[in-house]
Amino acid sequence: MAKKTLKDLPPLQGKRVLVRVDFNVAHDPKTGAIVNDRRIRAAVPTLKYLTDAGARVIVMSHFGRPEGDPAKDAIYRLDRIAARLQELLGVRVRKVDEVVGPGVTAAVETLLPGGVLVLENLRFHPGEKKNDAYFAQCLADLGDIYVNEAFGTCHNAKDASMIALPQAMAAAGKPRVIGFLVEKELAILDQLLSAPPRPLVGVLGGAKVSDKIKFIESLLAKVDRLLIGGAMTYTFLKAQGGGVGNSRFEHDQLDVAGRLLESGKIVLPTDHVVADRPEASAATQVVEGPIPDGWLGVDIGPKTIEQYRRAIAEAGTVVWNGPMGWFELEPFSHGTRAVAEALAASKAVTIVGGGETAEAVEAFGVADRIKHVSTGGGAFLNYVESGRLPALDQIEDRKTP
Ligand code: 3PG
Repeated sequence: MAKKTLKDLPPLQGKRVLVRVDFNVAHDPKTGAIVNDRRIRAAVPTLKYLTDAGARVIVMSHFGRPEGDPAKDAIYRLDRIAARLQELLGVRVRKVDEVVGPGVTAAVETLLPGGVLVLENLRFHPGEKKNDAYFAQCLADLGDIYVNEAFGTCHNAKDASMIALPQAMAAAGKPRVIGFLVEKELAILDQLLSAPPRPLVGVLGGAKVSDKIKFIESLLAKVDRLLIGGAMTYTFLKAQGGGVGNSRFEHDQLDVAGRLLESGKIVLPTDHVVADRPEASAATQVVEGPIPDGWLGVDIGPKTIEQYRRAIAEAGTVVWNGPMGWFELEPFSHGTRAVAEALAASKAVTIVGGGETAEAVEAFGVADRIKHVSTGGGAFLNYVESGRLPALDQIEDRKTP
């Protein structure tokens, strides 16, 4: 069922609009400095639309997983994020140091039409992760309208700002809609799930089969071919009885991998870059067939790159999640880079999902040549798996006439 969007709202002049965003940005774990502001940039069109319409905009987000120790948690304050948002929006952005309370209520009261106020990290409040109804009511009292613009958090079923808050808004008869980013994410993923131009090629990498079993099963039900890379390759190869040398694989997933292989849609690398130890300075070679003892796979090989490039070029739709090798180390990044460039060069509908993969396409400078780079990690995987996300159930449906 289609969801109500910003365009379905009544006139916004002077209205207090609560916007839940996902500004859980990639950051330096020691200092909290923003390493990648993609998720902030992605929310700008919605926030600009609201400020231009004269709304009083109250921005709420979580950031990291603070544990309640103020000394340790200081890096998770939203000051830096609010400052970056101000640069991107080009209007003054005010930030308060609390999530709820009299100071916040007073700041909202003095917020002018077209103004933006950022609340403190929602996860500083113990009610946020408990889906606490009283906390949610305190947030609900701050606004007239609720906008879910936090696609990356939509899979969390116990976050008060995603679930109990829109429920409190509903109880008070206040509108609940999605923002432009969530609308765009859903449109492209719905196309992927319902009527993708074919052939539909999945590209899947990453370390573990066990992390992604449901995702793999759901992809296999939809794709024409699923190209595998990353360390999960060696679990599949081992399940086929192939030699994997010293490569890491999941002993307890061999049966699962064997069952998935029965689909006949899984394509495994035919050659590998292997290293004599897990370090960038290791000796390497390319091997076809079994990986010899003493060597471990670290990237897909040149023949596989060529084969995957062709499959991507011939596809109508490509969906990619997970790196092809140990891409953080430059010598082992070629497979991931080649897949990123193949997607960028392809005429297919190209979709990239998952934090690491999205960061890889940005790092390789090809993100703007990909049709859609999702801001979701877990949310992207869950939506592809099941076609639903708990937070979206709290948003009003758009009734078809
Ligand atoms: C994410 O990055 O996946 C979202 O921001 C959710 O964060 P969480 O995994 O800490 O709930």
